[in-house]
Amino acid sequence: MVHRVLGVPYICLTVLFLPLLLQGVEILDPGQVVYTETKTNGVVGRGVILECGPTLPDVYIWGFTQPGTDTIRAVVYNFGKGPKIQKLANELGELTVISNSASLSIDKLPLAAEGVYTCQALYDTPDGAKLYYYYVFLRVLVPVTKPYIVMSDSSPVEGTSMIMRCGLENGTRPINYIWEQESRESKVTTMAEIYDDNQFNLTDVNRNHTGWYRCLASNQVNQQRSDRVWLDTIFGPDQPQIDVTPYSVTERGYSALERETVSLLCQASSNPPSQYVWFYNNSQVFTGPQFTITKILRMHTGHYACLAQNTYLNTRSRKTITLTVYYPPDGAPTCLILPTNNYTDLALLCTWEGGIPAAALRWTPYVFEKESEGFTNITKIQKGQDTANNSVFICQGSHVASNEIKSCSVKTWAPYGEPKCSAYATRNNEYLMLSCSWEGGLPRALVWWSSSTGDMQGTSEENANILVLRSSATYSGKAFVCHAKHPLVKETKQCVLKLEAPVLVTQRSAMTVYEGNDVQLSCVLSRNYPVTEISWYNNQKQHVNDSPLKYVLERAAAWTNLTVRETDSETDSGQYWCSATNAVGGAEIPIMLMVKRYPMPPDLSITRIMYNSRQRTDVDLDWQLQTEGELTGFFIERQRLPEPAKKRNTDVPWQKLVDLDPDSRTFQINNLDPNGAYAFRITAINHRTIGNPSDIKSPADPPFNAYPAVIGAAIGGMIIATIITILLFMYVVRNRNNNPRLHDLIFGRQNSQSRENINFPEDEVPGTAEGERGTGEPGPSATPAASMALPRPTATPTNLPPGEEPVNVTITVMASS
Ligand SMILES: *[C@@H]1O[C@H](CO)[C@@H](O)[C@H](O)[C@H]1NC(C)=O
Ligand SMILES: *[C@@H]1O[C@H](CO)[C@@H](O)[C@H](O)[C@H]1NC(C)=O
Ligand SMILES: *[C@@H]1O[C@H](CO)[C@@H](O)[C@H](O)[C@H]1NC(C)=O
Ligand SMILES: *[C@@H]1O[C@H](CO)[C@@H](O)[C@H](O)[C@H]1NC(C)=O
Ligand SMILES: *[C@@H]1O[C@H](CO)[C@@H](O)[C@H](O)[C@H]1NC(C)=O
Ligand SMILES: *[C@@H]1O[C@H](CO)[C@@H](O)[C@H](O)[C@H]1NC(C)=O
Ligand SMILES: *[C@@H]1O[C@H](CO)[C@@H](O)[C@H](O)[C@H]1NC(C)=O
Repeated sequence: MVHRVLGVPYICLTVLFLPLLLQGVEILDPGQVVYTETKTNGVVGRGVILECGPTLPDVYIWGFTQPGTDTIRAVVYNFGKGPKIQKLANELGELTVISNSASLSIDKLPLAAEGVYTCQALYDTPDGAKLYYYYVFLRVLVPVTKPYIVMSDSSPVEGTSMIMRCGLENGTRPINYIWEQESRESKVTTMAEIYDDNQFNLTDVNRNHTGWYRCLASNQVNQQRSDRVWLDTIFGPDQPQIDVTPYSVTERGYSALERETVSLLCQASSNPPSQYVWFYNNSQVFTGPQFTITKILRMHTGHYACLAQNTYLNTRSRKTITLTVYYPPDGAPTCLILPTNNYTDLALLCTWEGGIPAAALRWTPYVFEKESEGFTNITKIQKGQDTANNSVFICQGSHVASNEIKSCSVKTWAPYGEPKCSAYATRNNEYLMLSCSWEGGLPRALVWWSSSTGDMQGTSEENANILVLRSSATYSGKAFVCHAKHPLVKETKQCVLKLEAPVLVTQRSAMTVYEGNDVQLSCVLSRNYPVTEISWYNNQKQHVNDSPLKYVLERAAAWTNLTVRETDSETDSGQYWCSATNAVGGAEIPIMLMVKRYPMPPDLSITRIMYNSRQRTDVDLDWQLQTEGELTGFFIERQRLPEPAKKRNTDVPWQKLVDLDPDSRTFQINNLDPNGAYAFRITAINHRTIGNPSDIKSPADPPFNAYPAVIGAAIGGMIIATIITILLFMYVVRNRNNNPRLHDLIFGRQNSQSRENINFPEDEVPGTAEGERGTGEPGPSATPAASMALPRPTATPTNLPPGEEPVNVTITVMASS
């Protein structure tokens, strides 16, 4: 522009000056024109001086060429008669010519004053006139006005771009722009310096761009600062940061001790500031940055998430931490001691489960031994042979969440004494049980069975072991060994069992006893294992326990005595058995018992029987022995005869009156009915054997001479009549099938009762009873026919009703003797 202003007018000026020179001035030496060029800046509204040579020329002329035009127009000229200011000068400010020079002074420069000023000056020198062309290029500069900032977006989102413009009303270019940022902390930094471009491009805006902005515009004239403008970068939320107080981090995340107060602080950078929401295991629990849990509990373990939200941008970010609440296990550690390495060593087990994190455990008294320390459960192997009986081991447990040390202890001890063996059998000897035990001890001992050859039998068990075998005679004489092992006892202990079938012996295999006495049968059991008892069986092969009154058992270590009480010759004789059976065999031996009857006592006869007074209330009775024999006593029987017959009737029962000692030979019978008629008899007894009754006699009245003879004859007649009658009866009875009518005639059909009372031998059951009775009985008894008629001392107890005694006894005695 300057060049264009300055370059064009040379020819024009020349043309302008030629007529002027030709008209008045004599040009002595045309020579060469001198050109000088200067550039001057002025500031609008102020003043400037445009110089035209150092001295005042003789003639000069100022011309002005407006920029953009070719026309040169005169502003001032002075041909020697003072400067003449042209009208044009009014447009160029307050233009004056400095006196004594050709320089122009322009005040209050308007913009329009800008252009090329040409001063054509002519000097009349001794060497001739000299022509100078002074070109003065005047620029009118405009100072920058106070700039202002225009932002394309005053709240840009981080990462986007924005433009800031530094706006200016006026100011001559080029303008230099300096962008300053003042942070929140009032620190001023120069962000950019841009030459002649008022735009400041912020690509990729970030939060650090937030702050006050100023632009400083400067040009050749001045510089101006804008007011500050706030740039607010919108961003976030960033990934939140969670601070846990108290702070405790483990490889699993954060940890807290139970019952502590735990505070979770969430921070996420964001503009506008974040809104915070807390989640526990995905459910919302709190709103706000700081979530505090007072007295945290183990159930509060879990995932805590902080969600930060930028409500303006509707963006969010989230961070999750794991918080583990530490708590100690319940109770105390548990100590356990177990055998190991085949019962040679001890395993010390310590367990304390449940806490978080695992509790630390330590066995003492071990120091600096790695395997005696650990967590939750630890096992320490302790050599059995290095361990004394009753050693105590302590396990100590500690936990971060507890100041207390909890412990448990265990004492190892060996079982007392020696292992004990025994054998027994199940009921009925089905199974044989071999029992071995070694009681006590901690840990418990291992017990197992082997045969005598060393083969293990069954399984091994702790403390006690029962080997069950099916009973078999093959085990008789076999030995079984029980082994027992405990870690504290170096040697394996043993005990031995030998099985043996019972063996029975008796001192006497045949026993004899008089009836009525007790007898003791004895049996000895030897070599009997497992132990069993002797059982007794009577002569009927019945177990004696079934009749506790009859049999009494006495047991001692090896023998058992069976007492048979009040032996009876008929029922108690025979073979008894003593028997013993255990699981490996059995034995029984017979013992013969013979119960002997006492011999028949002697026969008797009544020597005297008489009322001792007329009152007929007391009778004196004397008797004497007829034969030799042993006896133990007598008894007297009475029969009351019916009135007035005064004749013996078989239906009238005998009534026993008294038992007498064997030395008695006389007895007084008192309290009789004076009007009654009586018959008496006396019988001797030898223990249980009852002798034959004496003859039956009725008492005589006290002395009255003929009386006894008459009575005796009458009685004798009666007896003979009775005999005849009875013989007839017997005949009828025996031949009742041949003469039924006769039988019925005499006895009648309904009269069977009386027949029963007669008790004839035919009505007894023949056979075995007959045979047994015969044994050991004195007198002939070989033929069955004779036995009917033969007298026999009966074994009937004396307390049988006397009426049962048949009358025929008396008769047969008389007949046979
Ligand atoms: C800028 O220049 C124009 C024209 O010259 C003038 O009218 C205006 O007042 C100036 N503005 C300032 C602030 O100087
Ligand atoms: C600023 O951005 C505008 C428009 O996008 C572009 O014209 C100008 O050249 C850029 N200025 C700078 C210094 O990059
Ligand atoms: C913001 O400034 C800080 C500190 O001066 C710096 O560490 C960080 O990297 C900056 N951020 C960006 C996005 O430039
Ligand atoms: C929360 O989650 C943790 C980890 O999955 C779990 O152990 C805990 O029981 C949960 N808590 C509740 C109350 O569901
Ligand atoms: C365990 O000990 C017993 C006796 O001490 C022995 O017979 C057995 O072979 C041992 N077992 C092992 C596996 O060592
Ligand atoms: C071991 O100690 C226990 C208990 O004091 C005792 O009963 C046992 O007999 C002892 N054993 C040995 C082998 O000393
Ligand atoms: C059992 O019998 C034996 C042999 O006869 C005898 O030695 C022992 O004393 C008897 N025992 C009793 C309690 O009678």
